[in-house]
Amino acid sequence: MYRLVYISTPKPDITPAEMADILRVGRRNNVKNGITGLLIQDKRRFLQYLEGEEEQVEETFARISADRRHSAIIQLKNGYIGRRQFPKWEMASKYVDGDASLLSAVKELVKNCDRDVANELMSFAEARDRAA
Ligand SMILES: Cc1cc2nc3c(=O)[nH]c(=O)nc-3n(C[C@H](O)[C@H](O)[C@H](O)COP(=O)(O)O)c2cc1C
Repeated sequence: MYRLVYISTPKPDITPAEMADILRVGRRNNVKNGITGLLIQDKRRFLQYLEGEEEQVEETFARISADRRHSAIIQLKNGYIGRRQFPKWEMASKYVDGDASLLSAVKELVKNCDRDVANELMSFAEARDRAA
C-alpha cells in the first residue's frame, strides 16, 4: 500500500461551499480510484493523508497540487506501508475549531491504525501545532 502525506495553506477567503465541493468531488474521485484517507483542517492548514495504488495516489496528488483553493503545498512523506489504514474512509474529514489542536483530531482518527503510521501522523500534527 502506497501513502502520501502533505500540508498546505487554504486560500484565505475559502468558503464553506468551496470546502463542501472539495469533499464531494474528492470523495467521488477517491471511490473511483481506490483511494482512502483523511483531510484535517484547522484555521491555517490542511493536513491530508492519501493511500492506494502508487499511480493513483500520485495522479491524485498532482491534481490536488494544481488546485488554487490552497497553496504552499509541502509533501511530508510518501512511500510504502504494510496495509491500508483507513479501509472505510474514501476521505474522512475533520474541521478543528478555534484553539483545538490538530493533534487531538488526529489522535481520534488514528485509533485503528498500525502503530508506526499512527505515530507518524501524530508527529506531523504535533509539529504543526507547535509552529502554529
Ligand atoms: C485540500 C484539498 C484536498 C483535496 N482532496 C482531494 C482528494 O482526496 N481526491 C481528489 O480526487 N480530489 C481532491 N481535491 C480536489 C482536486 O484538487 C481536484 O479539484 C479534483 O480532483 C478535480 O476533479 P474532477 O476532475 O473530477 O473535477 C482536493 C482539493 C483540495 C484543495
